[in-house]
Amino acid sequence: MMVLFRVFPLILLGLIFNTIIANAGEFKPLQGQTALRVCADAHNLPYSNDKLEGFDNKIAALIGEELGIPVEYYWFPQRIGFTRNTIKKIDPETGRFLCDLAMSIPAEGGMLAATAPYYKSIEAMVYRSGEGYELNQISDIAKVSKDVKELKIGLFDRDDATVHLLDDGLSEQIEYFQFMSGDALVYPGRIVEDALASGKIDVAFAWGPIAGYFASKSTAPMTVVPLNEFGERHVFSFAMGVRHQDKAWKKLLNNILDKRKDDIAAIIDQYNFPSLANVKPEVRKKREIYKVENGKVDDKTYVGWRLFNSTCFVCHGKHATGTDRAPNLLVRLEGMSERAFRKKLLSRYFAKVNLDDPDRRMEFLKQIAEKDAVEFKMPTWDDDPNIRPHISDLYAYLKARSDGALGEERPERLEQ
Ligand code: HEC
Repeated sequence: MMVLFRVFPLILLGLIFNTIIANAGEFKPLQGQTALRVCADAHNLPYSNDKLEGFDNKIAALIGEELGIPVEYYWFPQRIGFTRNTIKKIDPETGRFLCDLAMSIPAEGGMLAATAPYYKSIEAMVYRSGEGYELNQISDIAKVSKDVKELKIGLFDRDDATVHLLDDGLSEQIEYFQFMSGDALVYPGRIVEDALASGKIDVAFAWGPIAGYFASKSTAPMTVVPLNEFGERHVFSFAMGVRHQDKAWKKLLNNILDKRKDDIAAIIDQYNFPSLANVKPEVRKKREIYKVENGKVDDKTYVGWRLFNSTCFVCHGKHATGTDRAPNLLVRLEGMSERAFRKKLLSRYFAKVNLDDPDRRMEFLKQIAEKDAVEFKMPTWDDDPNIRPHISDLYAYLKARSDGALGEERPERLEQ
């Protein structure tokens, strides 16, 4: 008994030790990388602060742990010029960049190369609970303002909700807040933390993570309503950013993000992001490419026909069925998306003419000699003011022909 009791903790210790070693060995830092150097804002919760309370601080710690190196911060206020003054700036003293990782950047990247996204969110509306009214969607603000009390609304300039509020005739009730203040200590969360909690405003609009975090920290009870009524298009994903040239670094981060995705989700979970359940799916109406009724066509298709017969027929033939010089477009358009069609028209490429047949070769060369050598190619229509704006009209006409909805005859216009 005694023996067991003594040995047991040792075994346990050994187990723990082994797991730590196994963990640390899985991903190696890049050559010369002795610290995970993060570019972040020292006063921007829920993302980051210098007390390391933000979710990005926690996630950075996790990455440092995975690489077995310490995390170091280069602080700079998150606003215009952030990238230029941090991750892309070389420290004249050391000749190295000031830091190597930016967090919570838009998943499309841009100035920086983006890793795989690690969270997403949507805009939210926040109000103090227990005031005798409920706000479930933006339009409720106008109703409550009419029936109960005139609500004071706080939002950041250029907020998505603005148009809806103006449409509801609430312009007089709006107070605009500056998202990027000149003062490094003023963070967007103040709209909830100060203005809303103190009663200066009654409803605030803010980006989900900000709304959720500050509402949960507030002593005044608050309700957070994700603006899922905006639909999928307003759900934005965020990634980590690295310099475009740092390909190996990005790959390494993506591997870590993938391995630790559950831990990252668990961290994000503690920050009360508004729920993305019930986000309205995009009601994207399936757009009609063309309309044909009894041989009559809509304007688009008609314009496409006209243009085809003033320009494209020279090579593709009067009925678009092809010539020696250019292919049958009715065949080529089967399964070709409008996007692919557009791309083809806006790029230049060469004809594949079968020159093995001596007769055809002679005829072809004669044609070329008579006209311009340019005819070897499908011209690019990129700079043609008659064609460029009408590519989708041409597509409509050719698609209608290719689908068999329209014949070779000259189409008539539908009364519209
Ligand atoms: C000067 C001759 C010429 C003219 C004019 C011309 N094309 Fe072409 N087109 C070609 C040639 C040659 C090809 C290339 C065929 C190949 O390489 O497969 C081509 C290819 C195409 C293709 C791509 C087919 C595919 O499957 O890749 C499309 C679409 C097309 N043309 C549409 C048009 C349209 C629309 C017009 C009128 C705005 C037009 N073309 C005018 C010669 C011409």
